[in-house]
Amino acid sequence: MRRRKCINSVDIPEATSRFLDDVLVGLQKEQKKLPPKYFYDARGSELFNSICTLKEYYIPRTEISIMKANIDEIVGVLGKNVVLIECGCGNCTKTRKLLSHLQDPAAYIPVDISFKQLKTIVTELALDYPDLEILPVCADYSDNLLLPVPSKVGSKEVVYFPGSSISNFEPDAAVEFLKHARRICGKDGGLLIGVDLKKDSDVLNLAYNDGQGVTSAFNLNILERINRELDGDFQLKHFQHHAFYNQIEGRVEMHLVSLKEQVVHLDNLAINFSKGESIWTENSYKYDIEEFKLMADTAGFILKKVWTDEKPWFSVMYLT
Ligand code: AVJ
Repeated sequence: MRRRKCINSVDIPEATSRFLDDVLVGLQKEQKKLPPKYFYDARGSELFNSICTLKEYYIPRTEISIMKANIDEIVGVLGKNVVLIECGCGNCTKTRKLLSHLQDPAAYIPVDISFKQLKTIVTELALDYPDLEILPVCADYSDNLLLPVPSKVGSKEVVYFPGSSISNFEPDAAVEFLKHARRICGKDGGLLIGVDLKKDSDVLNLAYNDGQGVTSAFNLNILERINRELDGDFQLKHFQHHAFYNQIEGRVEMHLVSLKEQVVHLDNLAINFSKGESIWTENSYKYDIEEFKLMADTAGFILKKVWTDEKPWFSVMYLT
């Protein structure tokens, strides 16, 4: 983990060229794919915030209820004067719970890929937590981050990774991410992570196929983003959101299915779609606590504590 001394650092948002490269590579695969991190432009982040208010999408409210019910124990385990580093802070609803209860946090470092999102939350948090040093970083958190150095020396670094964002990684990559988090938090620090659990497939299928079609709009927005930023000519009406729980693999898959044979143009390339062919846009892996503990072990972490709701549908874990 390299450190850079600076105040209020904001890294340059991800370059368009890298977006184009990733899209071109993904759409030329036998099974067409797009990396889910590209969902989160300004519009996508907005749509994701709407998903988080849907009754079908149980994750945010379940996670918050777990945080609420156990907040004293959680902040007790973290200890005082921590530097809190959040990976993919989004609109940081859960973080407020933590920030309000943590004992004299040394600093808060939110890392997010959406510049607009980051700007909004930093402005709001600065008003609500005037004594807290906030050092935002606009970056892809799976990159090798250059993190700013807070002016106060903290007792330890705690990486906060809520919302089961870990679900987007393939299990191998999830272990790699955990190792990455271990480097960030150092040997005295820890990782506070929200992990979605395996459950009845009806619940999962509903959560990714909401009645209002917000998840569908979120999924399709990635095509709109390609049109907007990379001058593509996707016709959104000829693609359909398709999400389902793949029980064997333990993951929800999201796809965009081509409703007819069609050709899409992008960067002087013609991309052919047959009818029914899909672009695979997201995997959302669900774990058992035991399964996740094993991955944590592999990454060199010790699972210190697990909190769940009573169903249990979701878990918050602290790893050191
Ligand atoms: C942000 C990856 C946790 O997988 O539940 C929500 C993203 N996709 N609805 C998830 C998502 C469709 C979400 N994560």
